[in-house]
Amino acid sequence: MVRVTYVQPDGSAREVRLSAGTSLMQGALDNGVPGVVAECGGACVCATCHVYIDEAYLGLLDKPTPTEDEMLDAVAAERRDNSRLSCQIKASERLDGIVLGIPDEQI
Ligand code: FES
Repeated sequence: MVRVTYVQPDGSAREVRLSAGTSLMQGALDNGVPGVVAECGGACVCATCHVYIDEAYLGLLDKPTPTEDEMLDAVAAERRDNSRLSCQIKASERLDGIVLGIPDEQI
């Protein structure tokens, strides 16, 4: 299992354990973590699963695809250097302990 911590805009944090291969978006939905809307269900066409990746883990991720990069321009909250779409990141052992910030708005 892969430990993933979701941090809300108010600073409260929740750690969950995901099976490898589960997207970080799906992990939020499955565990009732608020703030990840995921209107398109993971098809990379809604930008409502936006998260901020803790800098310590950013370098472990594959670069965003051109499609994800384009969708990141459409996020509701501020796009930052560590912005990613959580539906495009799958839990894996190398990401164990990853920390994600949830933005204050998704729509
Ligand atoms: S769930 Fe729609 S872009 Fe991620």
